[in-house]
Amino acid sequence: MSTAFNRRNWIKSSALMAGAFTLGNPFEFTQPAHAHTTKVPPVTAPPWDFGNMKARLTSNENPFGPSPQAQKVMIDVIKDSWMYAKAGKDELKKMIADMWGVSEDYVVLGAGSTELLMAAAQLYGHKGNKILAADLTYMSLIRRACNDYGAELVTVPLSTDYDYDFNRMSDQVRDDINLVYICNPNNPSGRLTDTAALKSFCAEASKKKPIFIDEAYIDYQKDAADKSMISLVKEGKDVIVARTFSKVHAMAGLRIGYCIATPQNIEKLMLYATDGNALSRPSAYGAIETLKDGAFMDYSRQMNAESKAMLYKTLTDAGYEYIPSDTNFVLFPIRMEGDRFVMEMMKRGVGLKRIHYRDQHFCRVSIGTKENMETFAEAFSELS
Ligand SMILES: Cc1ncc(COP(=O)(O)O)c(C=O)c1O
Repeated sequence: MSTAFNRRNWIKSSALMAGAFTLGNPFEFTQPAHAHTTKVPPVTAPPWDFGNMKARLTSNENPFGPSPQAQKVMIDVIKDSWMYAKAGKDELKKMIADMWGVSEDYVVLGAGSTELLMAAAQLYGHKGNKILAADLTYMSLIRRACNDYGAELVTVPLSTDYDYDFNRMSDQVRDDINLVYICNPNNPSGRLTDTAALKSFCAEASKKKPIFIDEAYIDYQKDAADKSMISLVKEGKDVIVARTFSKVHAMAGLRIGYCIATPQNIEKLMLYATDGNALSRPSAYGAIETLKDGAFMDYSRQMNAESKAMLYKTLTDAGYEYIPSDTNFVLFPIRMEGDRFVMEMMKRGVGLKRIHYRDQHFCRVSIGTKENMETFAEAFSELS
């Protein structure tokens, strides 16, 4: 089986493969006829043993950074850390605004994009409110809005090839929806959706309801700026775009993120966000520096692509299928119960996540260094 298949071939071969699965077939599911309101399960994680983890492939972190240039600046500014980050965060905000060709009132900074996802959850997550999203997607904003603030989740299933089904989603942008959440590329499927299709969905839907686009992984595309929905914000649409420095920039531990939205929407988010007051001084200056380091971005993407190719080969050689990924993680169906798989891999020093979706157990594996991927391959060979 070739690793270089396109999506269509992947779906075809997956359907053939599916007969071999013992725990159901992820590729021949029947889609529920309608969107439905659903309960949001709390987060559960198997008891990872971080101390003994040889390959930390749990959280879509990027082990290829941070940018050496940014590291140097951060080390230099440590001595000034007795001061708050005011000047640094102001400079960072201006730089981000300039980068996107907007004024600063289109930008809100956060300690990681999580801070801004939480702000949006608080803004839109009142009792009686409804959030529309795909099933499957990233649940952080949704979980907070629904489980902590009393909103309800309305889901539309992904299409059979794990992409968004914009026709169905459009039908569900009803009067009683308060926010539409879209993650692109999507986590955990790893798929980037078609830019034109997303744009046309957002252009129409945003006439009725606000849309939150989570672009945490979009910088894995070299032409991310063209694929971003920030262009819609600039046209004045009711669209909020979230970005992070945690992925391609490899700064997850520094906690830096931002949203671009119209000044009216930024003002609303600011009710619940610190707008950079929660950034540390090294984080603010590190973020400024990494934005200048285009060579590091290229390196980061390249290293990710090389390690991902290794993972694809491991899976293909073992006769496994996977969802071709546009990100730094890969989702693939496994042949045992998810918790057991994750615990067995953990015993072998590999940290992973598992997902149960449409009666199939999946593993989500983050892309690590080549050595990490070798550790994964060795452990996986004992279980596959
Ligand atoms: C889709 C998505 N959005 C947002 C985040 C939050 O990232 P951060 O808070 O580090 O910016 C993550 C983290 O993994 C993610 O996967």
